[in-house]
Amino acid sequence: MRKIVTAVVVVLSLGGLVWAQGSLSGELEIFSWWAGDEGVALQALIDLYESLYPGVQVINATVAGGAGINAKAVLKTRMLGGNPPDSFQVHAGQELIGTWVIAHRMEDLTWLFQQEGWLDAFPSGLIDLISTEEGIWSVPLNIHRSNVLWYIPENLEKWGVQVPATWEEFLQIAPVLQEKGVIPLALGRNWTASHLWESVALSVLGPDGWEALWKGELSFTDPKVIEVWDLFGRILEYTNEDAPSLSWQQAVDMVVNGTAAFNVMGDWAAGYMFATLGLEPGVDFGWTPSPGTAGIFMMLSDSFGLPVGAPHRDNAIAWLKVVGSREGQDTFNPLKGSIAARVDSDLTKYNTYLQSAAADWRSNTIVGSLVHGVVANERFMDGFATVMEIFLAGRNSQQAAMAAEAIAIQSGIAK
Ligand code: GAL
Repeated sequence: MRKIVTAVVVVLSLGGLVWAQGSLSGELEIFSWWAGDEGVALQALIDLYESLYPGVQVINATVAGGAGINAKAVLKTRMLGGNPPDSFQVHAGQELIGTWVIAHRMEDLTWLFQQEGWLDAFPSGLIDLISTEEGIWSVPLNIHRSNVLWYIPENLEKWGVQVPATWEEFLQIAPVLQEKGVIPLALGRNWTASHLWESVALSVLGPDGWEALWKGELSFTDPKVIEVWDLFGRILEYTNEDAPSLSWQQAVDMVVNGTAAFNVMGDWAAGYMFATLGLEPGVDFGWTPSPGTAGIFMMLSDSFGLPVGAPHRDNAIAWLKVVGSREGQDTFNPLKGSIAARVDSDLTKYNTYLQSAAADWRSNTIVGSLVHGVVANERFMDGFATVMEIFLAGRNSQQAAMAAEAIAIQSGIAK
């Protein structure tokens, strides 16, 4: 009898989900770039995992650096060297499909989606982003928004400026701010310039033009795309000179401490401002879609997958179950500054910024981010960092357009 009792897996019902506890042991290595300031939400998710699987020792392997600039390089070496972590952070879209899936480095998770009822739990457009005809390749944890303009309402009032709805409006108020000794737009290192670029491009090209670029239907040398670089160059005139040495958090800090008026950053900036700096959304800081992009939600999604050859596969599958669960998502996202990828999250757990993001996610036109892996694979993204470097140094739109076209051809986007 005793044997039978001990052999029975302890099953606990938690908010509609059934968790199998205590049956796993050994290690679980989770790889991401959510270190330091960015690590609060991940730690909460790991705590949840550890409470469900106390026999497993979680190794939280992080490589710091916003947007994964450093982590992705380390991951590449590990994956190509046959030394994958048990599960790793990867953006839904081409970063996953066009980088790791086409190289047969990920396990198909269709069976897990069926078993957990996830085919109905996530929006179908999001499932499309993580799927090919051969399978479903990762578990989405969240939805972040790229095209957001951040500011401090009290400071704008003090300086007598309004929130710009278009880049032309921004360019009109920028000299006024400069005269007051305020930097109009805070910027950080290379990838944050590309992050700004994608919002500027969206405002010039609109959602259809943006999508056409990634389908190879709009050339990077088209006059409309050159116009993006021209406008981007004019905006850069109003950014801080020390941008190349600043992290995204330091650029946000400039807005918070009143050195700068605005910053375009993804909504992990909201997570940083409320979870790390303790600011209240809507009171201590404000937000609006980046100029010229009202009604458009440029999305990205952090997901976790199962690499082929994961050393602790069972523990990794248990991790993926937590990542995809309602409890997991509603534990992680209110701290991260993102909304749940699932359609059934409990919005009462989310603050006013996140509730507004959730409403926009449901009603806006959705497009995918370049810098955060949705529309292009890593080969293009790496190349684009070089294009940006060239533009930042020379400010030559024509040259940047031709360089971007070349890498679009190399990475299979353009013909
Ligand atoms: C993005 C990622 C976000 C956040 C951000 C800044 O690529 O999706 O979750 O970590 O980088 O590092």
